[in-house]
Amino acid sequence: MQDNNYFDNYRKAGDILKIVKEDSRKLVINGYKVVDLAEFIENKIIELGGFPAFPCNISINNVAAHFTPNLNTELVLKTGDYVKVDIGCHIDGCIADTAYTVKVGESDDDLIKATQEALKNAIAVVEPGVKTNYIGKIIEDTIKEFNFNPIKELCGHGLKPYILHSGITIPNYNSNTGSKLKEGDTLAIEPFASTKAGKLKSSEEVYIFKYLQDRPLRDTTSKKLLSVIKQNYKTLPFAERWLEKNHAGLKINFSLRNLIRANSIYPYNVLVDSEGGLVSQAENSLIVTSSGCEVYT
Ligand code: CO
Repeated sequence: MQDNNYFDNYRKAGDILKIVKEDSRKLVINGYKVVDLAEFIENKIIELGGFPAFPCNISINNVAAHFTPNLNTELVLKTGDYVKVDIGCHIDGCIADTAYTVKVGESDDDLIKATQEALKNAIAVVEPGVKTNYIGKIIEDTIKEFNFNPIKELCGHGLKPYILHSGITIPNYNSNTGSKLKEGDTLAIEPFASTKAGKLKSSEEVYIFKYLQDRPLRDTTSKKLLSVIKQNYKTLPFAERWLEKNHAGLKINFSLRNLIRANSIYPYNVLVDSEGGLVSQAENSLIVTSSGCEVYT
């Protein structure tokens, strides 16, 4: 086991997200601009003493994950939209990761309840020795009871300092093989449900990236941008929007494309349901304890 200070940083990050979740929900309303929601969430995290562990993902309807607005994105929330808000906060690299889904202007329906219940049932079986594919089975069974399908291509993940997806994978279905959780593991469980088969496709759009490695770069602006990225975000995901705000002089869009081509940064392409199914998500982060787990978001 790590010392208590280490876990306290996870808890602090989680406490910040509890507040941010509650406050941001009030803004998931008809007519609210998506970029204003993202900015509110990330600014609130900073105001409360944390740092965004990744850009706030605001994925609507058939978009499953990895959408975050750019500064000039005009997208506005509409009544009836399924809005998935996925938020990360870190303190000294210790990450809390949580998500909720709101149907704008309406109360939670079965699609939303399916992932909420799946998450609750999954958390209930977490303890040292439990196998990750068993947690996946619980998630799959719960979502299917609601007559929806889990999205198998997305999964829960271990959380290590400055690493958003470390070692452990928590599948959203019974993957048949898995690893055993142990006391002191920190991880996020995040079921996704679709009204269709739950198969995803990667879109051409990309707004979120992470640093991979230094590579020889001819373009000096791209080179400068890469050093800004390393210095500010280390190995954690960042948004094009963040760079647009603070480093507009570095030809952001052009330089990011250059850095992708050089394999210096990784692009998180927007993921959409391939059949246009509507998607919901629920997520919490937890620490595995001797007798179960402590949910800290
Ligand atoms: Co997550």
